[in-house]
Amino acid sequence: TMASEPVNVSEFEALAKKALPKMYFDFYAGGAEDEYTLKDNEEAYQRITIRPRVLVDVSRIDTSTSILGYPISSPIMVAPSALHQLANPEGELATARASAASNTIMILSFSSSYNVEEVAASCDAVRFFQLYRAERSGYKAIVLTVDCPRLGRREADIRNRMIVPKLKNVEGFVSNDVDAGGGSNLEAYANSTFDPTLSWKDVAWLKSITSLPILLKGILTHEDALKAVEVGAAGVIVSNHGARQLDYSPATITVVEEVVRAVKGKIPVIVDGGVRRGTDVFKALALGAQAVLVGRPIIYGLAAKGEQGVKQVIQMLKDEFELTMALAGCTSLKDITRSHVRTDRDRFQ
Ligand code: FNR
Repeated sequence: TMASEPVNVSEFEALAKKALPKMYFDFYAGGAEDEYTLKDNEEAYQRITIRPRVLVDVSRIDTSTSILGYPISSPIMVAPSALHQLANPEGELATARASAASNTIMILSFSSSYNVEEVAASCDAVRFFQLYRAERSGYKAIVLTVDCPRLGRREADIRNRMIVPKLKNVEGFVSNDVDAGGGSNLEAYANSTFDPTLSWKDVAWLKSITSLPILLKGILTHEDALKAVEVGAAGVIVSNHGARQLDYSPATITVVEEVVRAVKGKIPVIVDGGVRRGTDVFKALALGAQAVLVGRPIIYGLAAKGEQGVKQVIQMLKDEFELTMALAGCTSLKDITRSHVRTDRDRFQ
């Protein structure tokens, strides 16, 4: 029998679950420890309501924007996530082509299945990457993940003895034939590629050796947002790594305003974690974010239907976002304001 066509992004998760071996699905879907934050990332969006304005001519809606000067068709971008080849043989090549076809920016993960050069050759979309080596291959920004001094404890991977295949971006630099002692090799892999000494002074160093703008991914407080501005970051990404690192870190949408207030418009604020609906994108923008990143739904689209699935996921979110704008009385992104949403905090005041 024909599987029914998904009508929303969340339905791709079930399709991906069917398509993938349990070990790989669990790797993509899982979070750290109790997975409290994993649930809260999505639920926090559901606690925010929208305050629509009516009798606005919404016959024309413009969802387009730009990030660091690069135009994109909507404020929805592709988050960096590891090992796309476990979802589909074409891996990041398919994700990159789908992002290009959707006129949006893909951030390539350091832990990708294909290396920076291979992904660069697959399409000429605007891409951001995680290391300065990206400059040579035409990547336009460096996204430094700052929430990974060590690997979060993902119990599904430990239980499944998840094995990370060889990593293409570190070939010839570090050995990733890490010995797992019969269990998951994720931890051992992380020990060989993550740097627990990484600190603010290293951001200044990174800035001194590249002309690319640097975005700091994993900022959750006004204290760190302020430091990011001081150290010369080109932008911050409010993120808890899709709840895969520190469990009981806040749901990202609940701290966007705090970060936005701290940076005072000096640099763009992007947010990721739990974005599953066009209404979520609208809420993030109303609270001051310039764009969102989408993580797991992209992988689920890839697992279910390859390049076409990734395109569909991005298109669905964009269509929902456009409809939300129309129903809320906003014809362009600048029309979306703080007064278009109501949060828990507003209610208690
Ligand atoms: C990630 N994420 C991530 N982030 C990063 O900076 N480098 C990486 O290599 C990865 N790898 C990775 C793998 C997988 C399987 C997932 C699900 C996530 C985090 C990612 O960029 C993003 O912050 C979250 O995925 C956003 O949350 P949602 O959209 O998945 O809820």
